Amino acid sequence: MKRSISLLSFAVLISGCTQTPDAPAVASPQVLAAGQQVYHTNCETCHQPDGYGVPDMQPALVDDDIVAGDPTQIIRVVLQGPANVLPAGRPTYSNVMPRFNQLTDEQVADVLTYIRHEYGHDASPIGVDQVKTVRSQFP
Ligand code: HEC
Repeated sequence: MKRSISLLSFAVLISGCTQTPDAPAVASPQVLAAGQQVYHTNCETCHQPDGYGVPDMQPALVDDDIVAGDPTQIIRVVLQGPANVLPAGRPTYSNVMPRFNQLTDEQVADVLTYIRHEYGHDASPIGVDQVKTVRSQFP
C-alpha cells in the first residue's frame, strides 16, 4: 500500500512534465466525484449502481474490455451510441443504449474516467481534450 501511494505521487509529479494536458496521468478525486454524478444521472438505471448491468438487457461494465480499452472507441460509444460504433457479431441485448451527445465534453470525460477507474481496473483517465477531438472527428 505504502509503495503504491509513493508510486502514485511519483506519477503525479512526473505528469507535469511528460504528459500532455489531454491525457491526465491520474484521475483526481474531483473528477471521479463529478463522473460518479454523471453516471448516477445518465447510466445507472441501465448499467446499475454496481456496474454489473442486467443479464440480456444491458452489459456489465465491470471487467469489460471495451470500458478498459481504446479511449477513442469508448468516447464514441457514449457520443454516437454503441450500435453505431461496436463491431457486428457482438452479444445482443434487449435494451438499446441511446447516444449521449448532449453531454458536455467535460461530462463525458468525467463519466468515462469514473467507469474506467471503478470498473476497468484503473484504466487511464479520459481527458476533456480527447473528447473534444473525437467529437469533432465523428460529428
Ligand atoms: C437505456 C439503457 C442504457 C443507458 C441509459 C446507458 N446504456 Fe450503456 N449500454 C446499454 C446497452 C443495451 C448496451 C449494449 C449495446 C450494444 O451492444 O449495441 C450498452 C453498452 C455500453 C458500453 C459498451 C460495453 C459493451 O461491452 O458492450 C459502454 C462502455 C456503455 N454502455 C457505457 C454507458 C455509459 C457511460 C452510459 C451513461 C452515459 C450508458 N452506457 C447509458 C444500455 C444503456
